Amino acid sequence: MINNIIETSNYIKNNTKFNPKIAIILGSGLGDLVKFVEDKEEIEYENIPNFPLSTVEGHTGKLVFGKINNIEVLLMQGRFHFYEGYSMKEVTYPIYVMKKLGIEKLIVTNASGGINETFKPGTLMIINDFINFMGTNPLIGKNDENFGVRFPDMSEPYSLDLIDKAKKVANNLNIDYREGVYMGCTGPNYETAAEIRAFKTLGADAVGMSTVPETIVANYLGLKVLGISCITNMATGIQKFKHSHERVVETAKKAAEDFCLWVSNIIKEL
Ligand code: HPA
Repeated sequence: MINNIIETSNYIKNNTKFNPKIAIILGSGLGDLVKFVEDKEEIEYENIPNFPLSTVEGHTGKLVFGKINNIEVLLMQGRFHFYEGYSMKEVTYPIYVMKKLGIEKLIVTNASGGINETFKPGTLMIINDFINFMGTNPLIGKNDENFGVRFPDMSEPYSLDLIDKAKKVANNLNIDYREGVYMGCTGPNYETAAEIRAFKTLGADAVGMSTVPETIVANYLGLKVLGISCITNMATGIQKFKHSHERVVETAKKAAEDFCLWVSNIIKEL
């Protein structure tokens, strides 16, 4: 795996003049942040050696390098989901590459369903913890101590320091936000109403099909993580109509204005 990571990161380094310390994974419908990138350089996933290919609708699949508010950033537009059939190692492969590229802080974003009934579609939620309900783990297998320890601590999966900074920025900009626990499921089906009742009892505020694997590996590798979720719909049983992926993407796009303003200003404070 290490040889693949070196090959991938060498290819990327040879195709950008930037050397960012901050990376951002953009969730469904949140791709508008690339419009804030100046001096943009794009690398399509399909051209990157050893990179998996993104398939889901609403994701395009490229790395975007450039500057936001004069800070160098790496944006991942399109992520790899476990439900697409990728292994957990493939889902989290870009995080290993980011570490190799010198990334120190990772902002993970996603669209999710609201379980906390005080939320509404369009709510932006700082993820303050996760529940891994995916039934597997990206760190399963022989451990390479060069990456991280066998039993990584997960008492602060989302950096309290970064959360604090994100809150200060939101307050300064008058951006409305909430805070809560993200429950990661494999998907691809939306949850049943009974599952959502169970997840609520377990302490989840939002549910989605991503983010947890990337967060685990980022912590393992020693990256500081900030998580922001866009509640695109209320979860099954709370929402009185059926789910549609189109509505999820549409709602995320509506929330994207606040999201972009927030994230682009957080970057300055990290
Ligand atoms: N469930 C799971 N994933 C999601 C949802 C949901 O309700 N909304 C957006 N992503």
